Amino acid sequence: MPHSDSTRPTPVSVLGLGLMGQALARAFLRAGHPTTVWNRTPAKAEPLTAVGAARAETAAAAVAASPLVVVCVTDHDALREVLEPLGRAVDGRVLVYLGSGTASGARETAAWAAAHGAAYLDGGIMATPPAIGTEEALVVYSGPREVFDRQEPVLRVLAGTTTHLGADHGLSSRYEAAVLSLMWNVLNGFLHGAALLTASGVDARSFAPVAARSLEMVTGWLGGFAEQIDDGAFPGEDATLTTHLAAMEHLVRESEDLGVDARLPRFIRDIARRSVAAGRGDESYAVLIDQFRTSAGADR
Ligand SMILES: NC(=O)c1ccc[n+]([C@@H]2O[C@H](COP(=O)([O-])OP(=O)(O)OC[C@H]3O[C@@H](n4cnc5c(N)ncnc54)[C@H](OP(=O)(O)O)[C@@H]3O)[C@@H](O)[C@H]2O)c1
Repeated sequence: MPHSDSTRPTPVSVLGLGLMGQALARAFLRAGHPTTVWNRTPAKAEPLTAVGAARAETAAAAVAASPLVVVCVTDHDALREVLEPLGRAVDGRVLVYLGSGTASGARETAAWAAAHGAAYLDGGIMATPPAIGTEEALVVYSGPREVFDRQEPVLRVLAGTTTHLGADHGLSSRYEAAVLSLMWNVLNGFLHGAALLTASGVDARSFAPVAARSLEMVTGWLGGFAEQIDDGAFPGEDATLTTHLAAMEHLVRESEDLGVDARLPRFIRDIARRSVAAGRGDESYAVLIDQFRTSAGADR
């Protein structure tokens, strides 16, 4: 049967078979791409060879096996530890890094790849391993557009949404950092709220649906906040920062009264206090972006 562009079998090698690397390799295999796998600890390749992957004995053999080489290890240092000893063996390959890292790490890896004849895309996975290969997953890439366009039919099998962010290799790491900041702040808010409620005898299961509804409401504010940030104008139309600050004082007091750690609400209150003291009290909550934009923030 003829294959469309997205299904034409394309050899791909996956280096790094932790929880995420395994999920990536499985998605390539499910889509019918001949997949070669390698991992520093060889036993992790076994579940994949059982479902059709070819196991490479060495990283060099894995790189030699496919024109497209996907690496998913802990960070750029680990990636370079794997690839640097291979030197020019990467010549002519397209390297795609799908682990976490920093923008500077991505740019250094891109420079190393270019010096050794390889094209390079840096990716960021906004999904957990079980979501890989499903509509739920989002994977972003940065690097040369033409390299992305050529690989996109194969990379598309990893996620429902596959997005190219731009030519700067550091962009995907920056997006990933922004999403991690969002994720951990939201989760810490949920955990702190659950600590308040469980200290009051309410179980977390009762809180979860209320928390989810509240998150939907907050999600609805993001577009408007983004416009205010980009326009640099923060009209306090629905609620002013001064109004928020009064409620933050209640959250600190409630935490202290219950014997729950109040450091998180105190941090939130203190940046709002600084902003109000700087004369921004009549503006919207989004004006706090100015507090986050300065590295001096927490120390002032
Ligand atoms: N899991 C997630 O939900 C998720 C989501 C988004 C992004 N990510 C990112 O994806 C990357 C992998 O995550 P994971 O969940 O698969 O982690 P993991 O299960 O801890 O796997 C880490 C992988 O990196 C390899 N590795 C680490 N240092 C190495 C080195 N110096 N040389 C060679 N191989 C090395 C490990 O090899 P060994 O098996 O030999 O130790 C293993 O294959 C991370 O950057 C993570 O932040 C993960």
